[in-house]
Amino acid sequence: MIKLDYNFMMDTAVGKHGLKAKEFAKDEKRITTAFEMVNRNRGKGWQEWTELPLVSVSELNGIYNEMQFVRENAESFVVLGIGGSALGPLSIFNALLHFRHNDLPKKKRNAPKYFVEDNIDPERMKALLDVVDLRTTYFNVITKSGETSETLAQFLILYKLLKQELGPNEAKKHIIVTTTIGKGTLYKIAQKEGFLTFPIGEGVGGRFSVFSSVGLVPCAAMGIDVVELINGAKAMTDRSLQPNINTNPALMSAYLQVKAFEDGKNISVMMPYADSLKFMADFYGQLWGESLAKLVDLDGKATVVGQTPAKALGVTDQHSQIQLYTEGPFDKVITFIEVEKFRDSVIMPHDDGVDACCFLKGKTLNQLLSYEMQATRFALYKAGRPNFTITLDKVNAFSVGELLAYFMYQTAFAGALLNIDTYNQPGVEEGKKATFAYLGRKGYEDKLAEMQAVKTSKEFMM
Ligand code: PA5
Repeated sequence: MIKLDYNFMMDTAVGKHGLKAKEFAKDEKRITTAFEMVNRNRGKGWQEWTELPLVSVSELNGIYNEMQFVRENAESFVVLGIGGSALGPLSIFNALLHFRHNDLPKKKRNAPKYFVEDNIDPERMKALLDVVDLRTTYFNVITKSGETSETLAQFLILYKLLKQELGPNEAKKHIIVTTTIGKGTLYKIAQKEGFLTFPIGEGVGGRFSVFSSVGLVPCAAMGIDVVELINGAKAMTDRSLQPNINTNPALMSAYLQVKAFEDGKNISVMMPYADSLKFMADFYGQLWGESLAKLVDLDGKATVVGQTPAKALGVTDQHSQIQLYTEGPFDKVITFIEVEKFRDSVIMPHDDGVDACCFLKGKTLNQLLSYEMQATRFALYKAGRPNFTITLDKVNAFSVGELLAYFMYQTAFAGALLNIDTYNQPGVEEGKKATFAYLGRKGYEDKLAEMQAVKTSKEFMM
């Protein structure tokens, strides 16, 4: 089970920038109201994601079996998607597959090479085509709306190339679509072309979709234990159903972060001390950034909320960011992610005749990493900077499922505490519409006119 240590969020440890214990009692009603709001809406509206871990083992096995043809035939497996349609698979692959998966010889990999293509940089597209053989490459095109320009663009390019390489009938077998059934451009194409298609529930938003087929299909294609992943999500769901904040880690950390935000801590740094969890900071960053930054609250009143997520990696960023975190403005709250037992252990030699490094000799890299994390926590504590630590016993499908579910519940509780709509993203939608307008898409003429009316002056250019 994931552990949460929030000692260093409290004033007893970090002084005036910490939380006073009496705040819990003062905010009891607020905490209960937020908990009840999330709990009451389980499975309803945009909270369909809370029910995803209820998927049965036979359904999970069904998805796993459906992806057998990919595991058996693919040399490469490519996810085409962006935002919530990419960060789940990316963070899980990075956590659970061999760290140098694609570089391993085929025999040792036991799964295809993987690529998560979440950008449309033309050089990146060309580079992908330089390293994959289309005859043995399978593409999972993921888009909840079925309308996202980036994903549709990637699909168009690659499907054409597949058809040229394999012929129309064989090309179809290399495309797997994950989208909302009955809606959107990609769904229409999938129907017409006869692609294997997996659904995303109507009320499952992109950044909350990792336990739907958005995450499960790619995981199954890569041979990841989806049953254990969901078991982990279920375990965190059970803890998130606890009304008592002292037994509900997601509710506790949501409250602590919201209180820190209200005390001027506008930045939330996510700092895993494990390379395998590096992309968890991206997953968290999207959830936290897109869900909580809103200009109106649920009562229609103007507000300005949102904590800027920042990514850091221990120990690497100790040598670039910790000076800022310890001596910069008091505007941050730092979350460490610690792993107790790494899947490997590496010892520093003690008999190589190099005497000057005696303090390192005979210790493991595991110990060094752990000491460095403790040391950084201490430095922040000493500087009076609020921080807390999430500890995973080890990184496996179960703990990754728990961690992802924890991030989602933490975000949902934080949104409820802030009394905002956690599930919309008008700022993102505005950009999507403006892109359609530039591309000349039908129905976006007014948007184009609005954009063309924007005046700029040469006076402010150089
Ligand atoms: O969380 C969200 O809703 C967004 O970040 C989406 O995931 C992202 O914009 C991609 O959208 P879609 O899945 O519709 O292509």
